[in-house]
Amino acid sequence: MDGGPHARRDPGAPPSGAIVDLRGVKKAFGTLQVLRGVDLAFMRGQTTVVLGPSGTGKSVMLKLIVGLLRPDAGEIRFEGQRVDTLGESSLGPIRRRIGYLFQQGALFDSLDVFGNVAFPLREAGIRNSDEIASRVDRSLRLVGLSDLGARMPSRLSGGQQKRIALARAIVLDPDVILYDEPTTGLDPIRADLINELIIRLQRTLDVTSIVVTHDLASAFRVADRMVMLHEGEVVLDAAPEEFRMSEHPVVAKFLRGEASEEELAQLDTGTTGNG
Ligand SMILES: Nc1ncnc2c1ncn2[C@@H]1O[C@H](COP(=O)(O)OP(=O)(O)O)[C@@H](O)[C@H]1O
Ligand SMILES: [Mg+2]
Repeated sequence: MDGGPHARRDPGAPPSGAIVDLRGVKKAFGTLQVLRGVDLAFMRGQTTVVLGPSGTGKSVMLKLIVGLLRPDAGEIRFEGQRVDTLGESSLGPIRRRIGYLFQQGALFDSLDVFGNVAFPLREAGIRNSDEIASRVDRSLRLVGLSDLGARMPSRLSGGQQKRIALARAIVLDPDVILYDEPTTGLDPIRADLINELIIRLQRTLDVTSIVVTHDLASAFRVADRMVMLHEGEVVLDAAPEEFRMSEHPVVAKFLRGEASEEELAQLDTGTTGNG
């Protein structure tokens, strides 16, 4: 970590405060209004978990943060700088500071593990093979899979694939890590391994983590703060203990693991939410 984790930060920025900030963010797809005015500040150094049922716009929110989607209204800032108005070329340097573990953690099938983890380094223009090797090795060590460099993705378990995708997401030593449903589809033991990694990486790399999930056990395990997204709005933004005690009907229902009215309606009509 050349010059330490704080080296690249704007010296004028406050030592604490929001690193990612959404103000009045709206996003629709055709007639489907997904985000209806989201105000959310992600605080530096914290792990914020964003909870909500499938189809509430959690993945959309992450894509908005890295500029893969554009909001219809509102503002999105990274360290105070507007990202929603930036062109592709100016987004590059910001994206390199944000590690993104995609929901479909897709590794490149044609590349071995080393090639997959090295990919963002090569994209960022790093050519020195010693530097690439040492950074890849460090990333693989951080996810506990340093001996798998030569393995092809098809020969990895689901949990290992997630961890390799995570190694790839952290290889550029990001300031922020976005986790999209990191534990979905994993058995409880593999899921807990991912939770443990989220906690450890936050400490080791001094990062800000944004974890999007509908897995409550995972949320309570990793969160410094919990946000409930419902019908395109933030309905609760609280410390885990406060969240657990919340009497907000939507949150209470979610905590009890009950289906929402919409989900029950979807059963009847045969349609499904996404994810
Ligand atoms: N690129 C897109 N085009 C059209 N609809 C989309 C697109 N991305 C997401 N959606 C829709 O937006 C809604 C929210 O999606 P998403 O953010 O993936 O939900 P989740 O909370 O499960 O991550 C879903 O109904 C989904 O079908
Ligand atoms: Mg999603």
